Amino acid sequence: MERTSHEQERYADGLFGHAVPTELERLRLLESLLDGATRARLAALGLKPGDAVLEVGGGAGSVARWMAGQGARVTVTDLDTTFLTGLVDEGVTVLRHDLFTDDFPPGSFDVIHTRYVVMHLPEPDVAVARLANWLKPGGVLLLEEPATFPTEDSPHPAYRAAMRAFRAYLELSVGSDTSWARSLPVPLERAGLTGIGHHARIQPVKGGDAEARWWVLNLEQARAGMVAAGLATDAEIDAACAELVSPGFHDLSLAVLTAWGRRPG
Ligand SMILES: C[S@@+](CC[C@H](N)C(=O)[O-])C[C@H]1O[C@@H](n2cnc3c(N)ncnc32)[C@H](O)[C@@H]1O
Repeated sequence: MERTSHEQERYADGLFGHAVPTELERLRLLESLLDGATRARLAALGLKPGDAVLEVGGGAGSVARWMAGQGARVTVTDLDTTFLTGLVDEGVTVLRHDLFTDDFPPGSFDVIHTRYVVMHLPEPDVAVARLANWLKPGGVLLLEEPATFPTEDSPHPAYRAAMRAFRAYLELSVGSDTSWARSLPVPLERAGLTGIGHHARIQPVKGGDAEARWWVLNLEQARAGMVAAGLATDAEIDAACAELVSPGFHDLSLAVLTAWGRRPG
């Protein structure tokens, strides 16, 4: 599928590019924050040895590694496979592959999982339909995506302002839709999946914890761009980062929206 000019992929070379010095730390923090719930959901959905599994946008690779450890036959993709190459020695197939433009044959996988990827694509609903098409009959798609709404009415002014600026910058620079996850699980139903399930939780954040450190890295990676775009000043970003390392700081971070469904048959 060719992209039109307004649909250019803007993730790989931007603020989350894998060449950014803190990007591996940012991805590893994300894994430490999310993997427990992801593993539990995959196990509950019946992941089993021998399953043909696709992990899309694998990032630093912990979910792909865990699924391979469960005996699944795992393929992991990403726009940039720099942090995934070590998985080849663990029997995982690593592919440089763009969810939006590159294909798999229909009916290839028993399980497909993707996390914090689809919202960054130009047409997230189209991406869901593509993922659904790659499932074998009876296969399951598990999607986990964040939404920013819990940060919008934070009682902490500096954090609230920085979150708003970051959201705007993400939309401006990457083209991400930070509220798309609120539409779940409807895109899975529209893609023809059945047995739909849906879950939501909100990540807490406490000054100095892993979630807070993850936000500091996000803000630092976006700092120059946010300032240049007039979305925040250095002083405002400094104030938010100071809150995020303060032991007395307690707030809400992102909502994590999870949806799953099976291909009929
Ligand atoms: C926020 S990270 C999440 C990484 C991993 N899924 C996790 O949750 O730990 C998003 C990942 O998706 C990848 N990505 C972004 N757009 C993609 C696309 N169109 N196709 C495949 N991967 C993509 C990025 O390179 C990055 O590694």
